[in-house]
Amino acid sequence: MKILGIETSCDDTGVAIVEDGRNCLANVIASQEEMHAKYGGIVPEIASRQHLFSILPAISSVLEKTGIEYDQLDAVAVTNGPGLAGSLLVGVNFAKGIAFSKNIMIASINHLEGHIYSAWLGDVDPEIDPGFPLLCLIASGGHTELVLMNGHGNYETLARTRDDAVGEAFDKGARLFGMGFPGGPEIEKLASRATGADTKFTRPVVKNSLDFSFSGLKTALLRRLETKMQSEEFEPENIPFGLRANIAKEYQDALVDSLVSRTLSIAKERKVKGIIVCGGVAANSLLRDKIYSDSPFPVIIPEKKYCTDNGAMIGAAAWYKLRVKPEHQWDMDIVPSLRIN
Ligand code: KG4
Ligand code: ZN
Repeated sequence: MKILGIETSCDDTGVAIVEDGRNCLANVIASQEEMHAKYGGIVPEIASRQHLFSILPAISSVLEKTGIEYDQLDAVAVTNGPGLAGSLLVGVNFAKGIAFSKNIMIASINHLEGHIYSAWLGDVDPEIDPGFPLLCLIASGGHTELVLMNGHGNYETLARTRDDAVGEAFDKGARLFGMGFPGGPEIEKLASRATGADTKFTRPVVKNSLDFSFSGLKTALLRRLETKMQSEEFEPENIPFGLRANIAKEYQDALVDSLVSRTLSIAKERKVKGIIVCGGVAANSLLRDKIYSDSPFPVIIPEKKYCTDNGAMIGAAAWYKLRVKPEHQWDMDIVPSLRIN
Protein backbone atom coordinates (compact mmCIF):
# COMPACT_ATOMS: atom_id res chain seq x y z
CA MET A 1 0.00 0.00 0.00
CA LYS A 2 1.42 3.41 -1.02
CA ILE A 3 0.45 6.18 1.36
CA LEU A 4 1.00 9.91 0.95
CA GLY A 5 1.86 11.23 4.44
CA ILE A 6 1.30 14.91 5.20
CA GLU A 7 2.54 16.69 8.33
CA THR A 8 1.83 20.39 8.93
CA SER A 9 1.21 20.57 12.68
CA CYS A 10 3.91 23.08 13.49
CA ASP A 11 6.45 24.93 11.36
CA ASP A 12 7.76 22.31 8.92
CA THR A 13 5.84 21.17 5.85
CA GLY A 14 6.56 17.44 5.66
CA VAL A 15 5.37 15.24 2.80
CA ALA A 16 6.40 11.65 2.02
CA ILE A 17 5.31 8.51 0.21
CA VAL A 18 5.64 5.40 2.35
CA GLU A 19 5.08 1.83 1.19
CA ASP A 20 3.65 -0.71 3.64
CA GLY A 21 4.54 1.27 6.76
CA ARG A 22 8.31 0.86 6.51
CA ASN A 23 9.69 1.74 3.16
CA CYS A 24 9.99 5.49 2.64
CA LEU A 25 10.11 6.12 -1.11
CA ALA A 26 10.53 9.91 -0.88
CA ASN A 27 10.59 12.36 2.00
CA VAL A 28 10.50 16.14 1.51
CA ILE A 29 10.63 18.70 4.29
CA ALA A 30 10.15 22.39 3.55
CA SER A 31 11.71 23.98 6.60
CA GLN A 32 10.58 27.34 7.91
CA GLU A 33 13.47 27.59 10.37
CA GLU A 34 14.88 30.78 8.86
CA MET A 35 11.54 32.57 8.89
CA HIS A 36 11.00 32.01 12.62
CA ALA A 37 14.65 32.27 13.73
CA LYS A 38 14.61 36.04 14.06
CA TYR A 39 11.63 35.84 16.45
CA GLY A 40 13.35 33.20 18.62
CA GLY A 41 10.34 30.87 18.31
CA ILE A 42 7.46 29.90 16.05
CA VAL A 43 4.98 32.58 14.96
CA PRO A 44 1.71 30.71 14.21
CA GLU A 45 0.44 33.14 11.55
CA ILE A 46 3.69 32.92 9.60
CA ALA A 47 3.69 29.12 9.94
CA SER A 48 0.21 28.58 8.50
CA ARG A 49 0.74 31.02 5.64
CA GLN A 50 4.04 29.39 4.75
CA HIS A 51 2.45 25.89 4.73
CA LEU A 52 0.06 27.19 2.06
CA PHE A 53 3.00 28.21 -0.13
CA SER A 54 5.01 25.03 0.49
CA ILE A 55 2.54 22.17 0.48
CA LEU A 56 1.77 21.83 -3.22
CA PRO A 57 5.45 22.03 -4.32
CA ALA A 58 6.31 19.47 -1.60
CA ILE A 59 3.61 17.04 -2.83
CA SER A 60 4.68 17.53 -6.47
CA SER A 61 8.26 16.89 -5.44
CA VAL A 62 7.60 13.48 -3.79
CA LEU A 63 5.50 12.41 -6.78
CA GLU A 64 8.23 13.48 -9.17
CA LYS A 65 11.02 11.81 -7.16
CA THR A 66 9.19 8.49 -7.09
CA GLY A 67 7.58 8.63 -10.52
CA ILE A 68 4.28 7.82 -8.80
CA GLU A 69 1.08 9.47 -10.07
CA TYR A 70 -1.83 10.58 -7.89
CA ASP A 71 -3.88 7.66 -9.29
CA GLN A 72 -1.34 5.13 -8.01
CA LEU A 73 -1.67 6.24 -4.37
CA ASP A 74 -3.76 3.97 -2.11
CA ALA A 75 -4.34 6.47 0.68
CA VAL A 76 -3.59 9.89 2.12
CA ALA A 77 -2.69 10.29 5.79
CA VAL A 78 -2.52 13.59 7.62
CA THR A 79 -1.76 14.89 11.12
CA ASN A 80 -4.97 16.29 12.64
CA GLY A 81 -3.52 17.18 16.07
CA PRO A 82 -2.02 18.13 18.41
CA GLY A 83 -0.56 21.28 16.93
CA LEU A 84 -1.23 24.83 15.77
CA ALA A 85 -4.80 25.19 14.47
CA GLY A 86 -3.95 27.23 11.37
CA SER A 87 -1.11 24.91 10.42
CA LEU A 88 -3.15 21.72 10.92
CA LEU A 89 -5.97 23.13 8.77
CA VAL A 90 -3.70 23.44 5.75
CA GLY A 91 -2.62 19.79 5.83
CA VAL A 92 -6.06 18.40 6.65
CA ASN A 93 -7.81 20.32 3.88
CA PHE A 94 -5.22 19.41 1.25
CA ALA A 95 -5.44 15.76 2.29
CA LYS A 96 -9.24 15.81 2.02
CA GLY A 97 -9.06 17.46 -1.38
CA ILE A 98 -6.69 14.82 -2.76
CA ALA A 99 -8.57 11.87 -1.26
CA PHE A 100 -11.93 13.17 -2.48
CA SER A 101 -10.82 13.94 -6.00
CA LYS A 102 -9.03 10.59 -6.40
CA ASN A 103 -11.52 8.59 -4.30
CA ILE A 104 -8.85 7.00 -2.11
CA MET A 105 -8.72 6.29 1.61
CA ILE A 106 -7.90 9.06 4.06
CA ALA A 107 -6.69 8.62 7.64
CA SER A 108 -6.14 11.11 10.44
CA ILE A 109 -3.03 10.55 12.52
CA ASN A 110 -2.13 11.85 15.97
CA HIS A 111 1.21 13.68 15.69
CA LEU A 112 2.61 11.84 18.74
CA GLU A 113 1.59 8.49 17.25
CA GLY A 114 3.41 9.58 14.10
CA HIS A 115 6.59 10.19 16.07
CA ILE A 116 6.31 6.68 17.58
CA TYR A 117 5.94 5.09 14.13
CA SER A 118 9.09 6.81 12.89
CA ALA A 119 10.77 3.93 14.76
CA TRP A 120 9.46 1.49 12.14
CA LEU A 121 10.86 3.46 9.22
CA GLY A 122 14.00 2.68 7.32
CA ASP A 123 16.72 0.42 8.56
CA VAL A 124 15.18 -0.95 11.73
CA ASP A 125 16.86 -4.30 12.15
CA PRO A 126 14.16 -7.00 12.71
CA GLU A 127 16.54 -8.50 15.29
CA ILE A 128 15.89 -5.51 17.50
CA ASP A 129 12.15 -5.43 16.77
CA PRO A 130 11.43 -6.74 20.24
CA GLY A 131 7.64 -7.00 20.40
CA PHE A 132 5.20 -5.43 22.87
CA PRO A 133 4.93 -3.85 25.37
CA LEU A 134 7.24 -1.06 24.30
CA LEU A 135 7.97 2.08 26.28
CA CYS A 136 8.04 5.14 24.01
CA LEU A 137 9.84 8.30 25.03
CA ILE A 138 8.46 11.12 22.88
CA ALA A 139 10.79 14.08 23.31
CA SER A 140 10.04 17.07 21.10
CA GLY A 141 9.61 20.82 21.12
CA GLY A 142 5.99 20.59 22.22
CA HIS A 143 5.86 17.30 24.14
CA THR A 144 7.73 15.13 26.58
CA GLU A 145 5.80 11.96 27.29
CA LEU A 146 6.42 8.37 28.25
CA VAL A 147 3.81 6.22 26.55
CA LEU A 148 3.36 2.49 27.08
CA MET A 149 2.49 0.85 23.78
CA ASN A 150 0.74 -2.47 24.37
CA GLY A 151 0.19 -3.14 20.67
CA HIS A 152 -0.38 -1.24 17.44
CA GLY A 153 -2.70 1.68 18.22
CA ASN A 154 -2.90 0.81 21.92
CA TYR A 155 -1.38 3.48 24.16
CA GLU A 156 -1.23 4.41 27.84
CA THR A 157 0.46 7.65 28.89
CA LEU A 158 2.54 7.03 32.03
CA ALA A 159 4.31 10.36 32.44
CA ARG A 160 4.41 13.78 30.83
CA THR A 161 6.00 17.12 31.51
CA ARG A 162 4.45 19.39 34.11
CA ASP A 163 5.77 22.54 32.46
CA ASP A 164 8.16 22.96 29.52
CA ALA A 165 8.82 20.22 26.99
CA VAL A 166 12.44 19.11 26.84
CA GLY A 167 12.90 20.55 23.32
CA GLU A 168 11.52 23.83 24.66
CA ALA A 169 14.13 23.68 27.45
CA PHE A 170 16.82 23.31 24.76
CA ASP A 171 15.28 26.18 22.76
CA LYS A 172 14.92 28.54 25.74
CA GLY A 173 18.38 27.59 27.01
CA ALA A 174 19.90 28.43 23.62
CA ARG A 175 18.19 31.82 23.70
CA LEU A 176 19.82 32.53 27.10
CA PHE A 177 23.20 31.73 25.54
CA GLY A 178 22.35 34.23 22.77
CA MET A 179 22.07 31.49 20.15
CA GLY A 180 19.45 30.84 17.45
CA PHE A 181 16.36 28.69 16.99
CA PRO A 182 15.90 25.71 17.08
CA GLY A 183 18.09 25.57 20.14
CA GLY A 184 18.73 21.83 20.47
CA PRO A 185 21.36 21.57 17.73
CA GLU A 186 22.92 24.88 18.93
CA ILE A 187 23.32 23.66 22.54
CA GLU A 188 24.65 20.33 21.27
CA LYS A 189 27.25 22.12 19.12
CA LEU A 190 28.35 24.43 21.94
CA ALA A 191 28.51 21.56 24.46
CA SER A 192 30.76 19.61 22.08
CA ARG A 193 33.37 22.36 22.48
CA ALA A 194 33.52 21.93 26.30
CA THR A 195 36.99 21.47 27.66
CA GLY A 196 36.13 20.79 31.29
CA ALA A 197 33.36 20.52 33.85
CA ASP A 198 31.32 23.21 35.53
CA THR A 199 29.15 22.62 38.60
CA LYS A 200 26.45 20.02 37.88
CA PHE A 201 22.85 21.21 37.69
CA THR A 202 20.51 19.60 40.22
CA ARG A 203 18.33 17.04 38.41
CA PRO A 204 14.65 18.01 38.66
CA VAL A 205 12.19 15.64 40.34
CA VAL A 206 8.45 16.01 40.75
CA LYS A 207 7.50 14.75 44.23
CA ASN A 208 5.44 11.53 44.29
CA SER A 209 5.08 11.53 40.54
CA LEU A 210 6.63 10.02 37.44
CA ASP A 211 6.22 13.30 35.55
CA PHE A 212 9.03 15.41 34.13
CA SER A 213 9.73 19.06 34.88
CA PHE A 214 12.19 21.22 32.97
CA SER A 215 11.35 24.87 33.70
CA GLY A 216 13.44 24.91 36.92
CA LEU A 217 16.53 23.88 34.97
CA LYS A 218 16.06 26.79 32.59
CA THR A 219 15.86 29.21 35.54
CA ALA A 220 18.96 27.58 37.08
CA LEU A 221 20.76 28.15 33.78
CA LEU A 222 19.75 31.82 33.78
CA ARG A 223 21.06 32.27 37.37
CA ARG A 224 24.31 30.45 36.49
CA LEU A 225 24.90 32.69 33.48
CA GLU A 226 24.11 35.81 35.51
CA THR A 227 26.73 34.92 38.12
CA LYS A 228 29.37 34.34 35.42
CA MET A 229 28.78 37.69 33.70
CA GLN A 230 31.85 39.83 33.80
CA SER A 231 29.87 43.06 33.61
CA GLU A 232 26.58 44.38 34.94
CA GLU A 233 24.83 43.91 31.59
CA PHE A 234 23.30 40.51 30.73
CA GLU A 235 25.16 39.73 27.55
CA PRO A 236 26.17 36.07 27.04
CA GLU A 237 29.22 37.15 25.04
CA ASN A 238 30.57 38.60 28.31
CA ILE A 239 31.29 35.04 29.41
CA PRO A 240 34.46 33.49 27.97
CA PHE A 241 33.68 30.95 25.23
CA GLY A 242 35.25 27.97 27.06
CA LEU A 243 33.20 28.61 30.16
CA ARG A 244 30.03 28.98 28.09
CA ALA A 245 30.74 25.64 26.42
CA ASN A 246 31.30 23.93 29.80
CA ILE A 247 27.99 25.30 31.11
CA ALA A 248 26.17 24.19 27.93
CA LYS A 249 27.56 20.70 28.48
CA GLU A 250 26.26 20.62 32.07
CA TYR A 251 22.86 21.86 30.91
CA GLN A 252 22.63 19.23 28.17
CA ASP A 253 23.81 16.53 30.63
CA ALA A 254 21.05 17.49 33.07
CA LEU A 255 18.31 17.42 30.41
CA VAL A 256 19.48 14.11 28.94
CA ASP A 257 20.01 12.52 32.38
CA SER A 258 16.45 13.39 33.40
CA LEU A 259 15.07 11.75 30.26
CA VAL A 260 17.20 8.62 30.44
CA SER A 261 16.89 7.92 34.17
CA ARG A 262 13.08 8.30 34.20
CA THR A 263 12.70 6.21 31.06
CA LEU A 264 14.84 3.36 32.36
CA SER A 265 13.22 3.25 35.78
CA ILE A 266 9.71 3.06 34.26
CA ALA A 267 10.90 0.48 31.70
CA LYS A 268 12.14 -1.75 34.53
CA GLU A 269 8.99 -1.29 36.57
CA ARG A 270 6.75 -2.15 33.59
CA LYS A 271 8.99 -5.00 32.39
CA VAL A 272 8.85 -3.82 28.78
CA LYS A 273 10.38 -5.67 25.86
CA GLY A 274 12.05 -2.59 24.43
CA ILE A 275 12.28 1.19 24.32
CA ILE A 276 11.56 3.63 21.48
CA VAL A 277 13.07 7.10 21.65
CA CYS A 278 11.54 9.56 19.16
CA GLY A 279 10.72 13.22 18.50
CA GLY A 280 13.08 16.04 17.55
CA VAL A 281 15.23 15.72 20.69
CA ALA A 282 15.97 12.07 19.76
CA ALA A 283 18.35 13.59 17.17
CA ASN A 284 20.62 14.57 20.09
CA SER A 285 23.80 12.47 20.03
CA LEU A 286 24.30 12.42 23.80
CA LEU A 287 20.75 11.15 24.34
CA ARG A 288 21.20 8.48 21.67
CA ASP A 289 24.57 7.31 23.03
CA LYS A 290 23.53 7.36 26.67
CA ILE A 291 20.31 5.41 26.30
CA TYR A 292 21.96 2.84 24.01
CA SER A 293 24.75 2.32 26.52
CA ASP A 294 22.75 2.45 29.78
CA SER A 295 19.67 0.46 28.76
CA PRO A 296 19.42 -3.23 29.55
CA PHE A 297 16.48 -3.30 27.07
CA PRO A 298 16.69 -3.20 23.28
CA VAL A 299 16.49 0.43 22.17
CA ILE A 300 15.12 1.66 18.83
CA ILE A 301 15.86 5.22 17.76
CA PRO A 302 14.88 6.38 14.26
CA GLU A 303 17.49 7.76 11.89
CA LYS A 304 18.06 11.43 12.67
CA LYS A 305 16.16 12.60 9.57
CA TYR A 306 13.02 10.89 10.88
CA CYS A 307 13.31 12.33 14.43
CA THR A 308 12.23 15.89 13.68
CA ASP A 309 8.79 16.45 12.13
CA ASN A 310 8.29 14.73 8.77
CA GLY A 311 5.57 13.25 6.58
CA ALA A 312 7.08 9.75 6.48
CA MET A 313 6.18 9.02 10.10
CA ILE A 314 2.55 9.94 9.33
CA GLY A 315 2.50 7.62 6.30
CA ALA A 316 4.03 4.83 8.41
CA ALA A 317 1.51 5.18 11.26
CA ALA A 318 -1.39 5.20 8.79
CA TRP A 319 -0.46 1.83 7.31
CA TYR A 320 -0.85 0.09 10.66
CA LYS A 321 -4.28 1.72 11.00
CA LEU A 322 -5.61 1.25 7.47
CA ARG A 323 -4.54 -2.37 7.05
CA VAL A 324 -6.89 -3.38 9.88
CA LYS A 325 -9.61 -0.83 9.17
CA PRO A 326 -9.67 0.61 5.66
CA GLU A 327 -11.67 3.81 5.82
CA HIS A 328 -12.49 7.23 4.48
CA GLN A 329 -12.51 9.64 7.41
CA TRP A 330 -14.39 12.44 5.63
CA ASP A 331 -15.70 13.73 8.94
CA MET A 332 -12.28 14.19 10.50
CA ASP A 333 -11.41 17.62 11.81
CA ILE A 334 -8.40 19.26 13.39
CA VAL A 335 -8.01 18.78 17.16
CA PRO A 336 -5.26 21.18 18.32
CA SER A 337 -5.10 19.66 21.82
CA LEU A 338 -5.50 16.02 20.77
CA ARG A 339 -4.09 13.45 23.23
CA ILE A 340 -2.74 10.03 22.46
CA ASN A 341 -5.10 8.08 24.73
O1 KG4 B 1 9.59 16.83 16.82
P1 KG4 B 1 9.98 18.20 16.48
O2 KG4 B 1 10.59 18.44 15.12
O3 KG4 B 1 8.77 19.19 16.58
C1 KG4 B 1 7.80 19.08 17.59
O4 KG4 B 1 6.91 18.19 17.47
O5 KG4 B 1 7.91 19.86 18.55
O6 KG4 B 1 10.99 18.70 17.60
C2 KG4 B 1 11.62 19.95 17.56
C3 KG4 B 1 12.47 20.10 18.81
C4 KG4 B 1 13.04 21.50 19.00
O7 KG4 B 1 12.76 21.93 20.31
C5 KG4 B 1 14.53 21.32 18.76
O8 KG4 B 1 15.34 22.21 19.50
C6 KG4 B 1 14.74 19.88 19.20
O9 KG4 B 1 13.60 19.20 18.74
N1 KG4 B 1 15.96 19.29 18.62
C7 KG4 B 1 17.02 18.92 19.35
C8 KG4 B 1 18.00 18.48 18.42
N2 KG4 B 1 17.48 18.60 17.16
C9 KG4 B 1 16.23 19.10 17.31
N3 KG4 B 1 17.23 18.92 20.68
C10 KG4 B 1 18.43 18.48 21.11
N4 KG4 B 1 19.43 18.08 20.30
C11 KG4 B 1 19.26 18.06 18.95
N5 KG4 B 1 20.24 17.66 18.15
ZN1 ZN C 1 6.90 16.65 16.41
